[in-house]
Amino acid sequence: MWWLKDVWVIDPSQKISSPQNVLIQEGKVLEMVSSITEEEVLNKAQGEEVETVNGQGKFLFPGLIDVHTHLREPGQEDKEDIFSGSRAAVRGGFTTILAMANTQPVIDKRALAEFVRLQGERAGYAHVLPIGTVTKGMHGQELVEMADMKEGGVAAFSDDGKNIQNAEVMRLALEYAKLTGLAIISHCEDKDLAGDGLMRRGLASGRMGLKGIPASAESVVVARDVILAEETGGKLHLAHISTAESVELIRRAKARGVNVSAEVNPHHLILCDEDIRLTDTALKVNPPLASKEDREALIAGLCDGTIDMIATDHAPHTQAEKSRPFAEAPFGIASLETALSAVYQYLVLPGKISWERVIEAWSCLPAQRFGLSGGTLKPGTGADMVLFDPDFREVIEPASLVSKARNTPFLGKTLQGFPVMVWVEGRLVQKNRVVLQPEH
Ligand code: DOR
Ligand code: ZN
Repeated sequence: MWWLKDVWVIDPSQKISSPQNVLIQEGKVLEMVSSITEEEVLNKAQGEEVETVNGQGKFLFPGLIDVHTHLREPGQEDKEDIFSGSRAAVRGGFTTILAMANTQPVIDKRALAEFVRLQGERAGYAHVLPIGTVTKGMHGQELVEMADMKEGGVAAFSDDGKNIQNAEVMRLALEYAKLTGLAIISHCEDKDLAGDGLMRRGLASGRMGLKGIPASAESVVVARDVILAEETGGKLHLAHISTAESVELIRRAKARGVNVSAEVNPHHLILCDEDIRLTDTALKVNPPLASKEDREALIAGLCDGTIDMIATDHAPHTQAEKSRPFAEAPFGIASLETALSAVYQYLVLPGKISWERVIEAWSCLPAQRFGLSGGTLKPGTGADMVLFDPDFREVIEPASLVSKARNTPFLGKTLQGFPVMVWVEGRLVQKNRVVLQPEH
């Protein structure tokens, strides 16, 4: 049995943000009480050994659920694989991750989804749930066998990495996905408007002489997709929202009652186009880092609930790929191990967003929206949880990262506030920043 003693619990699912004592038994939360004596704990343990953790000065919250990670397996294991990616997840405070379908081959069949799920189980760290593609081969033409793929365990459908350009295909996808109850996750990017742009079009792209992607490349598809979700009643989730215009479109759609949710990535909340340097391809990401005004609108949208959740869009690439010139390097930021700390340091500490809202947006709401277990510390639920030390500082160094990827803008920087213990179903998987060996 675990006794997390005098720890500040943040559990938005129960509207708790206060000092508590949390008892974990047989992988589940047994109870949460504001005070308890050692004798009472020993009584409840009934002879079982009690591991006591002094939680003073630390936070305990439900393990984070990341609905947008690229784990690259099958097919691109030089970038990442399910073992390394799910280890990186628990190091960063994530106990459930949804694996994007743009692997090689893409996850467009039940057997492939089952493979991803099984590899996650074999790894034994975070829960890994596959996302299936929306269209066969991710070609944007023919829908996958959605019901069959749901049987195979997919948590949602997405052609992420590519937009579904054909509006009729998107409409049909929303219509058919209703039969499964699962969401369509849309990567909103009009291919023609985006062209071969490299960063957000604006003053910064002009100054740098880099081809720009207009903000409209995202927002016209957001507008299209909320209209289609409204017409069909389908369940729509918008990935990596990055512009002020998109936030406003979502706000208005929600006011009309459209079945839409949205996520924002930490890098869009923290960085902007002016941070981009030609020599640093770590900041080359899609959608591109936007303007300061966009960033403020995203933070406001996250605070007021227009944007439901945070997701990393962990997009690992090899050093060789990211060492190419800016124009040729692939888009993507690897972020599972730094995302939570970066959000804590750059947004929570300066008071731009409340810590409670961050936890809600990264655990409780993803669980609710995607119908997943976790995201709560209610008694009786599996103990997926994070002990977070707000004073812990760490230099982000290549050697300490367990992800295969190094394409993070925080390399060499010191971040403050890290998960120091992480449990998955009551099993300790990370202690003092070190990922432990799985038990099997
Ligand atoms: O930056 C990105 N990288 N954006 C995407 O949409 C896809 C992702 C990837 O797969 O590398
Ligand atoms: Zn995407």
